[in-house]
Amino acid sequence: PASARPGPGGDLLIGGVGLAEAADRFGTPLYVLDEAEVRSRARAWRRALPHADVHYAAKAFLCSAMADWIAEEGLGLDVCSAGELRLAAAAGFPAQRILLHGNAKSPEELRLARRLRVGRIVVDGLSEIPRIAALADAGTPQRVLLRVVPGIAAGHHSAVRTGTDGQKFGFRIAGGDAAEAVARILGQPGLDLAGLHCHLGSQITDTAPYLAAVDRLVALLAAVRDRHGRELPELDLGGGHGIRYLPGDGELDPARFARAVGTRLAERCAAHGLAVPRLIVEPGRAIAGPAGVAVYRVLSVKHTADGRRFAAVDGGMSDNPRPALYGSAYQVRPVGRSGTGPTAPTDVVGRHCEAGDVLVRGAALPADLRAGDLLAVPAAGAYQLSMASGYNLVGRPAVAAVRDGRIRLLIRRETVEDFRAREVGR
Ligand code: LLP
Repeated sequence: PASARPGPGGDLLIGGVGLAEAADRFGTPLYVLDEAEVRSRARAWRRALPHADVHYAAKAFLCSAMADWIAEEGLGLDVCSAGELRLAAAAGFPAQRILLHGNAKSPEELRLARRLRVGRIVVDGLSEIPRIAALADAGTPQRVLLRVVPGIAAGHHSAVRTGTDGQKFGFRIAGGDAAEAVARILGQPGLDLAGLHCHLGSQITDTAPYLAAVDRLVALLAAVRDRHGRELPELDLGGGHGIRYLPGDGELDPARFARAVGTRLAERCAAHGLAVPRLIVEPGRAIAGPAGVAVYRVLSVKHTADGRRFAAVDGGMSDNPRPALYGSAYQVRPVGRSGTGPTAPTDVVGRHCEAGDVLVRGAALPADLRAGDLLAVPAAGAYQLSMASGYNLVGRPAVAAVRDGRIRLLIRRETVEDFRAREVGR
């Protein structure tokens, strides 16, 4: 990760704290977040887009400390459940800077959002239009964005490509669904249609899909102006900005994104005679991903007669389902070992009862790797903890944060007692 540096004795330092010490103190698997890295990434987005609203996508990872950091850096928050919304509100996150998403918002979620006075709700289906409008009291309409599907395929895996036709989110621009939804929303006095939203996909490393989205959304803004005489003031391009998991990976940094999108937006708006709308972006992975590292302890090393080596660690697909779900690739580094000795290709596998529970295939790890050694997986801050499961009752890992050479526990390890505490019958 950007923040992990070699330390004495082959240790890895994150935020000035050695991972070996962190593992000794809090046990493994352990996720360590670098507060300074989260903050500097959040700041980089704000600096690159000073006239835009940057909303951190909570689904990448959220806890109270994260909500504090994001709030203090002046960003907004994108939430998509009552859980994310309640946690943010309880942490004191300003509701006006919260945006609620979701293709299946429950009546309770919408009521909660309205009661807390969230800044924006993203309309994802026709049935939501009268439901949200009915919650708004006469004087203060609810500000909404309309989620549209521009028909653009982008993202690291088909499961995360939400900009294409034939998937569950939003209203297609092609075919007229989006235009129909605009007309319906404008007919509701309880709703204030601020603009259009799209989210193309995740782990996108190229600007081209965003530029295509700008073209299609600005054309729709112009069509709305022509038909209804209304210029919508906001344009939300969602998240999806890619990070570097492997040394050769591309990444979409805030400055490159801002330059390309800013130029294209200005051009297209000028061509249509529109004022440039206020841009909204929702980076999740690009803020949280590189700021986290997962630390595991090796529990067993197995050699097979056909020349394979497996290093089994004390976590796996329950704390990081991404390799099993999407075939995602990661780096892995030994902790507390100098990097100079001979290595051997190793499959780093988890402890769960599936052959597909492989974290990293073919990693070059020390030839004498043995049980008790520590391994670190960088770029682990996004979509790992937030997608962690209770599989095999292993328990979700502990989460610690580092700042200025100090480490503190944010979330304790989940135990079987947590599971049993929820059992209310037998
Ligand atoms: N906005 C909306 C409406 C989204 O649906 C998402 C992600 C984001 C923003 C943030 O996207 P990001 O900047 O983090 O790429 N579990 C998958 C990723 C799913 C992303 C879902 N939506 C993975 O681990 O790759």
